Amino acid sequence: MNEVEIRKIAALFPGQWDTHYVAAKLRTDPLYSALENELRESDLPLLDLGCGLGLLAIFLRAKGIVVPIHGLDYDVRKVNTATRSARAAGIEGLTFSHHDARTGLPAHQGNVSILDILQFFTPTEQETLLGRAASRVGPGGKLVIRSGLRDQSMRFKITVLGDLLAKVTFWMKAGPTHYPTVEDFHRILKPFGTVKITPLWGGTPFNNHLIVLTHESA
Ligand SMILES: C[S@@+](CC[C@H](N)C(=O)[O-])C[C@H]1O[C@@H](n2cnc3c(N)ncnc32)[C@H](O)[C@@H]1O
Repeated sequence: MNEVEIRKIAALFPGQWDTHYVAAKLRTDPLYSALENELRESDLPLLDLGCGLGLLAIFLRAKGIVVPIHGLDYDVRKVNTATRSARAAGIEGLTFSHHDARTGLPAHQGNVSILDILQFFTPTEQETLLGRAASRVGPGGKLVIRSGLRDQSMRFKITVLGDLLAKVTFWMKAGPTHYPTVEDFHRILKPFGTVKITPLWGGTPFNNHLIVLTHESA
């Protein structure tokens, strides 16, 4: 994404903190471009779990992806900001709601995304959430996850530090609880389709990976 597009999206978010965060995120993190690559060919609706400021949805619209997108997050401030920003930009088909993903998921058949939120869940909550999310992937659809992976690397240690910092600065409501391993994703998701795991850290020092579950077409 070029600098003009980045500034245009960042300007949709009120307050200096969110504006700077969004611009920095779009400049340094390959996350949303990776989602664009995974979802570009699909016309299925997207359910974004832990949507935060709704940046994925707004980014995908800026890239010409027009499917309905529903984001949910348990942080009311972020959900309200996402709703206001999408409305201010006049973007249609984006909805955001206040919801704790630990209490279950809304009905949905399509693509599902879970980006950078699994670390807030216990192992049991992660397994439950992944199973519920995978069961909402429609034929030909994908569950696209980004997560830090628990392993022996320095990147993993930096990931934990980064998440602790997000908590002490009040950017996140909770600190990290547990990080899944590569084996966890294969074990939990394999019954639902094909699982592919690749590094996705771009210019960041974190141990982030992209996990893609593909559901075969009917
Ligand atoms: C690191 S942010 C990622 C935001 C967004 N997915 C993105 O990548 O732009 C993690 C988000 O998960 C949300 N979250 C954490 N636990 C949650 C839960 N139990 N239910 C819903 N959202 C949750 C947080 O409020 C936060 O917005």
